[in-house]
Amino acid sequence: MHKTITGIKGTFCAAIISLGANLAATNVMGAVTAELFGRVGDEKVEIYTLTNAHGLEARIMTYGATIVSLKTPDRDGHLKSVVLGFDNLDAYLAGVPYYGATVGRYANRIARGKFTLDGKGYQLPVNDGPNSLHGGDKGFDKRIWKAQAGSVAGNELQLTYVSAAGEEGYPGELTAHAIFRLGDDDSLSIEYRATTTAATPVNLANHAYFNLSGDASHDILSHLLRINAERFTPIDATLIPTGEERAVAGTPFDFRVATAVGSRIGQDNEQLKLGKGYDHNWVLNKAHGKLGLAAVLTDPGSGRVLEVHTTQPGLQFYSGNFMNGKPSGQGTVYAYRTGLCLETQHFPDSPNHAAFPNTILRPGETYSEKTVLHFGTLKGGAT
Ligand code: GLA
Repeated sequence: MHKTITGIKGTFCAAIISLGANLAATNVMGAVTAELFGRVGDEKVEIYTLTNAHGLEARIMTYGATIVSLKTPDRDGHLKSVVLGFDNLDAYLAGVPYYGATVGRYANRIARGKFTLDGKGYQLPVNDGPNSLHGGDKGFDKRIWKAQAGSVAGNELQLTYVSAAGEEGYPGELTAHAIFRLGDDDSLSIEYRATTTAATPVNLANHAYFNLSGDASHDILSHLLRINAERFTPIDATLIPTGEERAVAGTPFDFRVATAVGSRIGQDNEQLKLGKGYDHNWVLNKAHGKLGLAAVLTDPGSGRVLEVHTTQPGLQFYSGNFMNGKPSGQGTVYAYRTGLCLETQHFPDSPNHAAFPNTILRPGETYSEKTVLHFGTLKGGAT
């Protein structure tokens, strides 16, 4: 099947998409192209390349609805990928800590893998100490999503995954969509939608590890981070929120003013010790459901700036504390703290905290959340 897709209005760009037996790529700007990335058993994994008018390029594969690379310019216009990833599927299949993936059905932790819903108790797989993390043993990051017919257009890619009732212990068949759009305003927007046949917890998030230097041999400790939050949710020894929402003022968790990630990470602070660094949820200072500022990340070296807006109520900032040089990719080693995650999401363990924003989706409702990653540089663009 060949489809001709017209590129963005006002440009001459167009793509020939070749799906089916012989996947071929046509590399053009302002469009989407597809190619075969590998196979899991007999199943094909495709990779889609989205480009915009300024040469930004996002490569997204159907395995895990994963952002494999995301090239943006530095202050001198040099394009490099600002997310950690690999150039072959086998590296992902060998086991990767969620690099660039869409995590679900419930992103982040559920304490001891247990929750009660409408009077019934559920037990999820426990895969992170005593807790269930990122959807269990085989979460959405390890599933093959499908690009639906008619869902690839312009600079947009829609991927769908249908999670069976009972999969990884969750009730209800959940149909999840991840829609990626690369805009000519130099933003990559990620929209999630889901519907269910029975009440279920849902929390979908992208797990990109950013390194705005474009060079993962540098750690991220000199990146400047601003988080639009007055409070964060302290954790216990297993990284489960205690339920408290604590003011950031006067703590190393205060990122209300842009601050170097590494400047306080080694402080003698109980919460930093429990997280082995930053691995906490911030309570965003915005109305839930409305697109608002979550964070601004700046790399003074390259001049790249990333501004994150989201409809979600929380931001998990994870400073790569479990990274240990394995796995490596794209000619380099992903060592300790060479990437950081800004996971816009609902609060961890919400099904067990009535005071946290609701994460239960019921039949007839549509889960809908959006995150926009806007790229610029210090001389112009995002601030
Ligand atoms: C999440 C968690 C971290 C860690 C990473 C994957 O961000 O919060 O604790 O498990 O995933 O390594």
